[in-house]
Amino acid sequence: MLIKLPKSSDCNESDVTPESVYFSRRSVLGASLAGFALGALPVLGQAAEASRYADVEAGSTPGWFKDKLGATRWQAVTVKDEAITPFKDATHYNNFYEFGPDKGDPAANAGSLKTEPWSVVVHGEVGKPGRYALEDFVKPLQLEERIYRLRCVEAWSMVIPWLGFPLSEVLKQVEPTSKARYVRFETLQDPKSMPGQRSGFALIDWPYVEGLRLDEAMNPLAILAVGMYGRELPNQNGAPLRLVVPWKYGFKSIKSIVRISLVAEQPKTTWQGLAPNEYGFYANVNPQVDHPRWSQARERRLPSGLFNPNVRTTQMFNGYEEEVASLYSGLDLRKNY
Ligand code: MTE
Repeated sequence: MLIKLPKSSDCNESDVTPESVYFSRRSVLGASLAGFALGALPVLGQAAEASRYADVEAGSTPGWFKDKLGATRWQAVTVKDEAITPFKDATHYNNFYEFGPDKGDPAANAGSLKTEPWSVVVHGEVGKPGRYALEDFVKPLQLEERIYRLRCVEAWSMVIPWLGFPLSEVLKQVEPTSKARYVRFETLQDPKSMPGQRSGFALIDWPYVEGLRLDEAMNPLAILAVGMYGRELPNQNGAPLRLVVPWKYGFKSIKSIVRISLVAEQPKTTWQGLAPNEYGFYANVNPQVDHPRWSQARERRLPSGLFNPNVRTTQMFNGYEEEVASLYSGLDLRKNY
């Protein structure tokens, strides 16, 4: 088996950081509306940075990121209901198989990942193919904060304040041709810095690959993230550039992207290739369609421990139904899981 079911002991009570930052359910949903009404988002400017979140470890912020941060369109983080997952949990309970199979492996091993300089190759059905230095790639784009739920197919979830750019803006820059129907993403392949790629764990055929239909990629909720919790992405969370598609299971949100291809055919993706009866191309969060080996009706919201498992009901499309359901009208979601 490839993705292991988490044990409740995987996150014990002592890991729980006091939740000092709360925001409203509306705020989580509001994040999803951001792309539809960009002008409506509050711009809080300089006051808001990593310090607005508790217990955030500082990183070695690259210059280009600092420049972008000053003009960030911050999201209001105000009332209460769904708490933002403490930084410690979001950065020490990870899936990044390039750095090992256990939840703590990415935090322990991803220090070896060299994220500067970084470039992204854009190719396929685009008017402007090329290899772009990351800082040039993001130069014309405005950084936005998006507070999203992240629901893993393993039935745990978090709420994370991402910093990133609408994927649609990035794609518009490279001018997809009329033949482009899908977007294919590829993670760095570097066995020297990625011990998981040396070990053959889970029989993954590296590099890790993910994909979206072009209309899914153009949905305002889909972002390319470069940061979280008011700072740049920690390596274990997919530095320096990762996908975030909050209505889909977490495995679609591919990390440390080095290649983006616009293609005519549906790309072969990592998990679908490994276990097609368990992991589909769409991977939309759906409490009515169980994984063959466990229910998807509920989820453990981290932090979660033995005495407070913090279990909640999973929402259709992870709570983003209003924004994305129309993408799938006429599609049988039981067959297209
Ligand atoms: N991307 C790459 N390259 N390698 C991975 O192993 N794991 C996926 C996804 N992106 C993964 C990846 C899975 S299964 C999940 S649930 C999310 O990353 C986890 O993101 P997080 O560790 O930031 O919470």
